[in-house]
Amino acid sequence: MAYSEKVMDHFTNPRNMGEIENASGVGTVGNAKCGDIMRIYLDIDENQIVRDVKFKTFGCGAAVATSSMATELVKGKSIYEALQVTNKAVMEALDGLPPVKVHCSLLAEEAIHAALWDYATKHGIEIPGLQKPVTDISEHEEEEEY
Ligand code: FES
Repeated sequence: MAYSEKVMDHFTNPRNMGEIENASGVGTVGNAKCGDIMRIYLDIDENQIVRDVKFKTFGCGAAVATSSMATELVKGKSIYEALQVTNKAVMEALDGLPPVKVHCSLLAEEAIHAALWDYATKHGIEIPGLQKPVTDISEHEEEEEY
């Protein structure tokens, strides 16, 4: 299995690892199949811009690298732009992932969505296109094609 240099870089030197106290939104998702869990914390300002973002992952190296890159991609974005940060975008930014590790990148995307959902619910707003998050992404994994 070959990892790109960017994956190795984000794995060995993850950006934005940690947590945010009193975060505007927190999202946690897991994958029951591999047992990995990821949590994303968003600090969103009054203009609905992601001022800060942190993550915690109990997961494999690919999950760490994709979380790290995903946090870099949503930082400074509006909540609407943050919703557009897909696992594909994250993988592209990392110069790809080995096929058996593609599912790991879904954890980051889903955790961001869950955190945005938490924020939206707390503030009584609706983010168009945002679906109620799942807590276990392996549930709908079978339907996806890799
Ligand atoms: Fe579970 Fe990578 S093996 S997230």
